[in-house]
Amino acid sequence: MKFFVDTADVSEVKAIAELGLLDGVTTNPSLVKKAGRPFKELLQEICAIVEGPVSAEVTALDAETMLAEGRALSKIAPNIVVKLPLTWEGLKACKTFSEEGVGTNVTLCFSANQALLAAKAGASFISPFIGRVDDAGNDGMNLIREIRTIYDNYAFETEVLAASIRSPQHVTACALAGADVATVPAGILQALVKHPLTDKGLDAFLADWKATGQKIV
Ligand code: G3P
Repeated sequence: MKFFVDTADVSEVKAIAELGLLDGVTTNPSLVKKAGRPFKELLQEICAIVEGPVSAEVTALDAETMLAEGRALSKIAPNIVVKLPLTWEGLKACKTFSEEGVGTNVTLCFSANQALLAAKAGASFISPFIGRVDDAGNDGMNLIREIRTIYDNYAFETEVLAASIRSPQHVTACALAGADVATVPAGILQALVKHPLTDKGLDAFLADWKATGQKIV
């Protein structure tokens, strides 16, 4: 499973990229608001740090303007992926971008049927929002499993990009369900390495090693 970081904060992208485990980045208008910086400027900086796909979301509601916005965004760097909402207009724009060879991430997916439509429109990625499905009282992970099964049934190449991840447990469940990508907030990505028994075991090994009086180098 690939790891993307879900942020528009350049310092977070740098910190995660330094871990050597970063496969891409997803942004959205709320994350851009939080970053408090010009969208195109921060995209340029993120694309200079990360070789993998960097999702940049359009804000128009009609396909024609989505195409204009997406083309402007994709000029920023070759690894920009145009993020489009899961509406008929978004799907129309997705189909055109797919025919032109422009990468797309169809976002705000909350049902298997929506994911089926995005795949048929040629989306590079589909973004089911599992945390928000859970918030609404349903099972977000079941949505990932349904999409995985449908895509495998018909050999769709659209990658399942699990989004709205809220915990390390979500990450494990995504990997078990066969998501291609998990886009994860930086804090949760950093928390994945933590386990109290690792810390306890390391303390004990180091204490015993010290008692031997030896050095490796
Ligand atoms: O990638 C989508 C994600 O940012 C949404 O997460 O926590 O706002 O539902 P959340």
